[in-house]
Amino acid sequence: MKRTFIVSLVMLTMLQGRQLSAQTTNARMKTFIDNLMKKMTLDEKIGQLNLLTPGGGVATGAVVSSDVETKIKAGNVGGLFGVIGVEKIKVAQDFAVNQTRLKIPLIFGSDIIHGYKTIFPIPLGLSCSWDMNLVEKSARIAALEATADGLCWNFSPMVDIARDPRWGRIAEGSGEDPYLGAQIARAMVKGYQGSSYTNNTLMACVKHFALYGAAEGGRDYNTVDMSRVKMYNEYLPPYKAAVDAGVGSVMSSFNEIDGIPATGNKWLLTDLLRKQWGFNGFVVSDYTSVNEMIAHGMGDLQTVSALAVNAGLDMDMVGEGFLTTLKKSLAEGKVSLAVIELACRRILEAKYKLGLFDNPYKYIQPDRPAKEILTPQRRSEARNIAAHSFVLLKNSNEALPVKKSARIALIGPLADSRENMLGTWAVSGDSKLSVTVIEGLKNVAGNEAKIFYAKGANLSDDEQFAKKVNVFGTRIDIDKRSADEMLAEALEMVSKADVIVAVVGEASEMTGEAASRSDIALPESQKKLIRALSKTGKPLVLVLMTGRPMAIPEENKLADAILLTWHAGTEAGNAIADVLFGGYNPSGKLSASFPVNVGQVPVYYSQKNTGRPSDSAGSKFQSNYLDVPNAPLFPFGYGLSYTRFSYGDLSLSKKNAKGNETITASVTVTNTGKYDGEEVVQLYIRDVVGSITRPLKELKGFQKINLKAGESKTISFRITPEELRFYNYNLKYDWEPGEFLVMVGSNSRDVKTEKLNWSK
Ligand code: NOJ
Repeated sequence: MKRTFIVSLVMLTMLQGRQLSAQTTNARMKTFIDNLMKKMTLDEKIGQLNLLTPGGGVATGAVVSSDVETKIKAGNVGGLFGVIGVEKIKVAQDFAVNQTRLKIPLIFGSDIIHGYKTIFPIPLGLSCSWDMNLVEKSARIAALEATADGLCWNFSPMVDIARDPRWGRIAEGSGEDPYLGAQIARAMVKGYQGSSYTNNTLMACVKHFALYGAAEGGRDYNTVDMSRVKMYNEYLPPYKAAVDAGVGSVMSSFNEIDGIPATGNKWLLTDLLRKQWGFNGFVVSDYTSVNEMIAHGMGDLQTVSALAVNAGLDMDMVGEGFLTTLKKSLAEGKVSLAVIELACRRILEAKYKLGLFDNPYKYIQPDRPAKEILTPQRRSEARNIAAHSFVLLKNSNEALPVKKSARIALIGPLADSRENMLGTWAVSGDSKLSVTVIEGLKNVAGNEAKIFYAKGANLSDDEQFAKKVNVFGTRIDIDKRSADEMLAEALEMVSKADVIVAVVGEASEMTGEAASRSDIALPESQKKLIRALSKTGKPLVLVLMTGRPMAIPEENKLADAILLTWHAGTEAGNAIADVLFGGYNPSGKLSASFPVNVGQVPVYYSQKNTGRPSDSAGSKFQSNYLDVPNAPLFPFGYGLSYTRFSYGDLSLSKKNAKGNETITASVTVTNTGKYDGEEVVQLYIRDVVGSITRPLKELKGFQKINLKAGESKTISFRITPEELRFYNYNLKYDWEPGEFLVMVGSNSRDVKTEKLNWSK
C-alpha cells in the first residue's frame, strides 16, 4: 500500500515535471518567436508561408519553382522540398542563414513514403503485415536515413481510407478500414517523430486532409461527396489518430468537401482540425492546391489565396499564391494581419521545435549518409518487413512452399524487372539497387537452384498505355519479339521444369498518383500467358505484384497458388524467395478487399445491411447483382499460411454487461498444420440496433500471434464501451445500449459469433 502510494507520488511528480517543462519550452518558444516576429517585415512574414521545390528531384505537379536561389536570399521562402542530398541541402540552407536579413533557417521536406533509400513495401503492402512494430520500425529507419541526408520534414503518413481500387493512390495508404488505418497512422507518426525531435527524427505530415481516397469513380483528384456520419465514423479516424499521436503538420487534400475544396475549407482546417481535435502544428497545402481552387471555380488567385489562409492553411506548396497576393489582400481588407501572422508563427514554431533556430545545420552531418543509409542491416530489415507484407491468397495441393531443389520455370514480365521492384512513390530510392525475383531465387536456393527463365509476355502490349505509365522511365518494356515468340520460349522453359512460378501484375507506375485505372484486371497480354501456362498441367504458382487490389477471378481458378507480394521494395526478390521456399511462412492479411470485378466497387467488409439484404444473385427485389455475388473474391482480413489455424468456440466472460464494465472475449487458436506460423486473430463487433444504421461488422481489435506446429493459445480481447462508441446523427461520440454481436476470426468473413447485451 505504502509502496504503491510512493510510486504514484513519484509518477505524479514526474508527470507534473514533464508538464512544467513543456510549459517552460512553450513559453520560451513564444518569447523567441515574439521577438523574431517583431523584427520581421510583412514580406518576410509572407515569405515564411512559401514552400518551393527547385526541381531536380521528381516534380509531382505540372510546374516546378523558378528562381529559387533569388527568392531564398530575398527572404521569400519558408521551406523547400524535393532537394535530395545533404550537400544540396547545405547550399540552400547557407543561402537562408548567411544571406538573408534575419537568417531564418529553411525547413526541408520530402516524400519519404515507404523508405528513403532502403525502400520498404508500398504502404498498402506494409499495412497487410498488421504488425505495428514493423510498421513503426520501417518509419524509424526511413527517418534515420532521411535525416542522415539532411531532411527534417516528411510528407507522410498518407492515411486516406480507400475503398476503390481504381484509384491509383490506394497503394500509398493502409486500405479500407478506419481502425487498422488509425493504428498504422499512430505507429508511423511515432516511428518518424520519436518522442521528441532530435537530429535523427522527422516531423511527420499526415495527409491528405481529408477524404481524398473517396474520389468519385476512383479517378484521381475527382470530386468527393460524403455524409458527415460516414466521414466521422469511417474516413476521419486515421487522421485524428495521427493528430492524437502528436503529428507536427497536416497536408490539405486536392478534393472538395461539402462543395468547398479542402485547401480553402475553414470548417475542415480550423473548426474540426484545430478547435475539435486540438491540433497545434501547421497545415501545408498540397502541390498547387491553392491555385487549383481557381479551376474548382472558387475565384481568381487572390481570392483563393485569401480563402485558403482565412480557412487556416499556413503554407502554400509551389503555387506562390500567398507570396504574390496576400499583401494586396491585406491592403484591401480581405485578409487580416493577425491571420498572416498566425500562419507565420506556426511555421516558425515548427522550425523552433525541430531545433533549427539553435542549429540550422542540425540535420546536416555529411559523415552520416555513408554510415547510415542502405547498410546491410537496413536491407535485412527491409527483407524481413517485405516478407511480412505478403498475402497468400491461394495454396491448393500445397503447391507452396517450393523445394529449393525443384526445377523452376520462372516466367513473367516481372520476374526480371529491376525497375518495377520499388513501387510507386519511391522518389529517393534507386531501383538499380533492388533485387529482382530471379536474383532472389538464386540467392536463396544457392547451388541447388535450377531456374529456367523466360519473360513470356509484356506487362501490357498497349503502346499508348505504356507511354502514359512510362513518364518516370521505362516500367513497361514492350519486347521486340512477338507475343507468340515470347510464349513459345516460356513453354519451352516450362517443359524442363517441375513447377511454374509466374511473376505477373502491374508495373510500379500503374498505381500511385495520377494512375487510376477503370479496369483492374491483369492486362490481356498477361491473361493470355497465364491461360497458356495453366494448360501445361504443371503446378502453377502466381506471384502477384501490384499496387492495388485487382480483379483476378479467372487467375484464381487457373493457378494452384497465388502469393500477393505488392511492390515490395529494395529487397523484393530476396523476400519473395524467402517465402516461396518456405524460409518465412506468409502471415499477411488483406487490408483492402479484392473484388470479383470492377463493377462491385466499392466493396468493403464493413458495409451496411440495407433494407433488403441478400447475397444471393438469384433473389429478385433484394440488394444484389444479377451476375456476381455481393461478396468480394477475397475479403478484408483474409490471408492464408503454409500451416492451418483452427478456431475453437468464442467465449465471453459475461453475456450481459452494464455501464463501464470490461468484457473479455476469448478463443483458442490451434496450429493444426505442419509448419510454425503467425496468425492475425481479429475481433469484430456489430451493433445490432442503433439510432442510425450501423455496419454489419467493424474491426475493433487484433493480435498477431506466433504458434508452433501443434501449439494452441487462448487469445483474449478486452471489450469496453469504448469499442462500442460511434458518431451518432448529431455527431456525438457515444455508445448506445442494446444487443451486440461479438465476432472473432481469421478474417472478416470467417468468424465465430456470440451475442452480448450491454445496458447503460
Ligand atoms: C502531390 C501529392 O498529392 C502529395 O502527396 C505530395 O506530398 C506532394 N505532391 C509533394 O510531392
